[in-house]
Amino acid sequence: MSPGSLALRALVLGSGAGGGVPQWNCGCRVCRLAWSGDKRVNPRTQAGLALSVDGANWVLLNASIDLRQQILATPALHPKGPGRGSPIAAIVLTNAEVDSAAGLLALRERQPFVIFATEATLEAIGQNRMFDVVDRAVVPRRAVPLGQPFEPLPGVKLELFAIPGKVPLWLEEGEVLTGEIGEGTVCVAAEAAGKRLVYAPACAHVTEDLDARIAGADVLFFDGTLFTDDEMIANGLGDKTGRRMGHMPVSGPQGALEALQRHANVRRILLHINNSNPILIQGSPEEAKVKAAGFEIAFDGMEVVV
Ligand code: MLT
Ligand code: MN
Ligand code: ZN
Repeated sequence: MSPGSLALRALVLGSGAGGGVPQWNCGCRVCRLAWSGDKRVNPRTQAGLALSVDGANWVLLNASIDLRQQILATPALHPKGPGRGSPIAAIVLTNAEVDSAAGLLALRERQPFVIFATEATLEAIGQNRMFDVVDRAVVPRRAVPLGQPFEPLPGVKLELFAIPGKVPLWLEEGEVLTGEIGEGTVCVAAEAAGKRLVYAPACAHVTEDLDARIAGADVLFFDGTLFTDDEMIANGLGDKTGRRMGHMPVSGPQGALEALQRHANVRRILLHINNSNPILIQGSPEEAKVKAAGFEIAFDGMEVVV
């Protein structure tokens, strides 16, 4: 992008779900292909997006546990010198999951930036003292009320709004509600250079509010965790359905393809894709189905100029 031309630019830092692709302890069909270097499966780090309007200053949506590796792979995020510095001006967290927030620990070298999240997410992180290594005196944490626009970068207006979800995996206890609407799981609506983008890496179901936001967006990044709700169980990889994990499936009744069918004029991109999901195999019938429905499949390093 030439300097001076303003456009909303999104870089996919990571497109995988928790564990990435391949996952360190997984020999499922997709992971086996990835381990063997088969060209049909691209390796993926855990989900995150970087946004900019000037190409020089960036706000990150989530800080996955793979963040250091993602910065290394993304020249736009390298320090420009001399001395210390970073193009990363702010980080927005959509929840307090490990794959959304643990990457903050990789940014503990006294570099000023601002963390934005809901009070509930900041509270969860605040309870975990390991995050205090990211010194609040250098890296302020700003609580953002739902529905109140804020500008983490000049010209980039963001708003957090609630979407159905659950408490982070590491805070689960007793009976877990999976469709809670509150500050625990939020979606980011971004507006810059006259364009709109919605980032929803975890979503239990599409509410009327979310549906209306998507209708007004140019680009949507959406939860693509599992292709079928019982995929983990059916493949002997775990005992939870996608819905139990707070993720609606891609296919099937009330899956993402069906729920987002009417938004054909929005660029719809699936991300936070779990390594069990067969859409990750290029040439698979599941990939074909997603593409035929008009959806794209995010990959690490994908650049979207809105
Ligand atoms: C999720 O998206 O369900 C969580 O990130 C689970 C996890 O921590 O791996
Ligand atoms: Mn996740
Ligand atoms: Zn796997």
